Amino acid sequence: MERDAAGERWVVRGPARLEGVLRPPGDKSIAHRALLLAALARGRSELRNLPAGDDVRRTIAALAALGVRIERSGDTHRVHGVGLHGFRPPRDPLDCGNSGTTMRLLAGLLAPQPFETLLVGDASLTLRPMSRIVEPLAAMGARIACLGPRGRPPLRLGGTTTTLRAIEHRLAVDSAQVRSALLFAGLYAAGPTCLQPASASRDHTERMLHALGVQITRAGERTVLYPTRPEGWSAFAIDIPGDLSSAAFHVAFAAATPGSDLRVEGVGLNPGRGRYLALVAEHGAALRTVGAGDSLGEPRGTLRVVGGRLRPLHLAGRDTVQCIDEIPALAAAWAVAGVPLRVRDAGELRVKESDRIAKLVELVTSFGGVARAQPRGFDVAGSKPSRPARFDAAGDHRLAMAAAMLALGTEGASHLLGTECVRTSYPEFVADLARILRPVRKGPSHPRPAVRKRA
Ligand code: S3P
Repeated sequence: MERDAAGERWVVRGPARLEGVLRPPGDKSIAHRALLLAALARGRSELRNLPAGDDVRRTIAALAALGVRIERSGDTHRVHGVGLHGFRPPRDPLDCGNSGTTMRLLAGLLAPQPFETLLVGDASLTLRPMSRIVEPLAAMGARIACLGPRGRPPLRLGGTTTTLRAIEHRLAVDSAQVRSALLFAGLYAAGPTCLQPASASRDHTERMLHALGVQITRAGERTVLYPTRPEGWSAFAIDIPGDLSSAAFHVAFAAATPGSDLRVEGVGLNPGRGRYLALVAEHGAALRTVGAGDSLGEPRGTLRVVGGRLRPLHLAGRDTVQCIDEIPALAAAWAVAGVPLRVRDAGELRVKESDRIAKLVELVTSFGGVARAQPRGFDVAGSKPSRPARFDAAGDHRLAMAAAMLALGTEGASHLLGTECVRTSYPEFVADLARILRPVRKGPSHPRPAVRKRA
């Protein structure tokens, strides 16, 4: 992982509770897909509320290098679609930075193209497994190869001279990135693309394709995408809902700290992603959501969470898949509350931006809590953090934000290193948090809670 030369760190002083209104940045997963689908559309699409994080900027830069004109005016990006067959060969390798979604989704779109592209990433992305997309794309007849050892990036792909074959593919891991890559490639296939088994992971690609008029069906175990008409779809407008995975840290921490009362406005309420909210509510927090319509098949609304007494949580199976990005937030909140958390079926956490199983255990123990790694999960025992800590998020944005929450749940000043990586998903994290931090109400008086950047 590349480190900021300035070595930015945060000093976080707890204890704190949260009160007020949070408006999280636009949803990263929806933003990547909206950009790609707008690039393939006919005409000029309008995308409102794209997040400013580095991951989405990588997708914007890659599309620009493929000949797609994207202009920004205030909080709207205008994407001049080039149609399904309008990409230009890029002059240089496309740098996906830290963004696995950029690399895997682009691979689905670029593998069927008649020109060759090289997809590269930063040191962390270069450690992430790509065989999961390379093997099925190759089975469709695409030219694609991993240039790194053991199925790792860079990816060389495209220069395919024949139309891709239809496939029936059984996914070995329940991953939205893999499914999306295959559905995007399926837009160029000679027949239907059939994916099995039924998935618990986020379904943004399916929803958005359906909203654009592409024939895609889900029945029982099977998702089937039918060949697209050559003219594809027309330009569209989308208002990107706020990112529930970014708000997850605040929501879980508020749920765990009596006296907290937080409203999250304009947040995405896609039912699959919302499982996280249901679990928090079922395990002790007072949490309500109110829907406020949808944009391109993606619902949004407002939620209010009032802190309470959390109950032990055992996360496994489909719930683990649906909460995969929220597990760091859950770990921090349950540790702060001193309530047991058991996570299973979470082997995928080992191949995220860091080995999140190892790093979450290190995080909880560095604050004096008790946590133990399991091969495909971890346990947090029911003991509250006992001391402020010095912790290195080592370039994983969700680890940095989870660490901030643990630090806010602990009395004293914690020093968090390797935090510059929050720019990948939530550059406004510190500023947004500072606005809703409040001192705890009861007990001995404490210095004001704070979260500050230090260079
Ligand atoms: C994402 C899917 C998830 C998630 C990632 C974003 C997406 O990864 O962890 O942050 O936008 O499709 P997997 O699909 O690999 O589980």
